[in-house]
Amino acid sequence: MEDRWNVLFQGLFRMLVICLVLAIFFPVYEADFTGKVFGQTEPVVCLVGEDVILPCTLRNNVSTVNAVKEAVEWQKMDLTQKDVHFYTDSRDSNMDQIPSYRGRTSLFKEELRKGNISLKLTSVKLSDAGEYSCSVPSLHRNEKAFIQLKVGAVSQPVISIMGPKDDGVVLKCESGGWYPEPKMTWLDSDGSILPDGPIETQIDSEGRYTVRGEVTIQKTDNNKFTCRVNQLQINQMKETEMNIPGDVVTS
Ligand SMILES: *[C@@H]1O[C@H](CO)[C@@H](O)[C@H](O)[C@H]1NC(C)=O
Ligand SMILES: *[C@@H]1O[C@H](CO)[C@@H](O)[C@H](O)[C@H]1NC(C)=O
Repeated sequence: MEDRWNVLFQGLFRMLVICLVLAIFFPVYEADFTGKVFGQTEPVVCLVGEDVILPCTLRNNVSTVNAVKEAVEWQKMDLTQKDVHFYTDSRDSNMDQIPSYRGRTSLFKEELRKGNISLKLTSVKLSDAGEYSCSVPSLHRNEKAFIQLKVGAVSQPVISIMGPKDDGVVLKCESGGWYPEPKMTWLDSDGSILPDGPIETQIDSEGRYTVRGEVTIQKTDNNKFTCRVNQLQINQMKETEMNIPGDVVTS
């Protein structure tokens, strides 16, 4: 009888030792509950006057981390006064906010528990463009995620008929209020690019660009011409088409 108990205890003891050895050499993987912030590598692009979301998520290596009870800080990196939005003790706390952001920033309160600490910015201005950081100072003071915001401005081009020149007619196209500097192109009704005349660019006190260009056109089958203004960085294109009366071209 004693022997059988001995065998049983020895067996249990061996299992215990094996478990301990396994636990030491193969620790159970556990989540990192402090979490890290993640932004977005591609820039966020929007137009003046629009509302925009700057994405940022608090997550560990397994899942998102509840941010309701944390402090959430949004800053603009290229300014000396940096505070864009601050949240702590479960509410917004914007005493030190940059004045130009007043009333235009918010967090998605119902999303915080899912680790979504994205910032909503309304009525975007050209001066909002730049690099933002989001961080959770209550967890780790120095760790930040960065998000680039590009802000563009556009307007519809306007075509006018300047008058005859040589055996054609000069058309002028103008488009103001752009940002960044756009490119102007003239097209015929087949979409072929016309050799353009002089194009001048002006920049106003707000930093917005006006482009003006001329083209001398010859009579075509339908006398339709298009002025296209585009800006690749903000993925914007505006076109105006004009149908030139035949007698204008032939006169
Ligand atoms: C998660 O992070 C913790 C702490 O950094 C680490 O110990 C653990 O191994 C990680 N888990 C996984 C599944 O990568
Ligand atoms: C965060 O919340 C906003 C607003 O509801 C949403 O548009 C966005 O997709 C969310 N981000 C993530 C990563 O869930």
